[in-house]
Amino acid sequence: MSVIVAPSLLSADFTAVGEALQRIESSGAEWVHLDVMDGHFVPNLTFGPKMVADVRARTKLPLDVHLMISEPERSVMQYIEAGADYVTFHVEAVVHAHRLLQQIGAAGLGRGVALVPSTPVSAIEHLLDELELVLIMTVNPGFGGQSLIPQCVEKVRQAAAMRRQRNARFRISVDGGVNRENAEQLRTAGVDVMVSGSSFFKSSEPAFEVQTLQGQLIA
Ligand code: DX5
Ligand code: ZN
Repeated sequence: MSVIVAPSLLSADFTAVGEALQRIESSGAEWVHLDVMDGHFVPNLTFGPKMVADVRARTKLPLDVHLMISEPERSVMQYIEAGADYVTFHVEAVVHAHRLLQQIGAAGLGRGVALVPSTPVSAIEHLLDELELVLIMTVNPGFGGQSLIPQCVEKVRQAAAMRRQRNARFRISVDGGVNRENAEQLRTAGVDVMVSGSSFFKSSEPAFEVQTLQGQLIA
């Protein structure tokens, strides 16, 4: 099965989100990634549930909402109601992760947890049967356009090994610094979803970019 590419709107021109969505749809990318930042969990601010709702009204593609916010349990319902398909929160940002996963699952959405580079995969071992998505950050979250931290690729291998051992079904997503040069290594490590911000939006040929990340074309 080919990798899912999820372009991140963080790298789009925020005054032209409709055009960015058209670019995503015509490129053949499968998901739309939305980075919610609160200026507290990460040192940057982006947008909230209204953006998710407005994007929902414009596209049928699955919306992959990445909450880089403190206390996500306080606002998760707003993202569910806004029309997200996957809601991913950071395990570092919550005490009762299991409860929050239950809440997201009860609403019928895909349940995701994310790990910053300094958090080991073992931190979510007890949650792996309750998840659809494990998002492994390959940069320190907060900004697009950073370089992938090579040590994080090992965490993808570890998550893939745990998935095999437990016969679990979650997808493994990587986010940060993903590009044509490192895509093959990531696919080999066991990645199912590639978030692509700057590499997608800077590309003069987005469809080519998507196919290269998917592994359908050689970089
Ligand atoms: C970073 C965000 C990413 C970001 C990736 O904190 O979570 O989704 O948009 O951007 P690139 O692909 O440019 O690293
Ligand atoms: Zn993200």
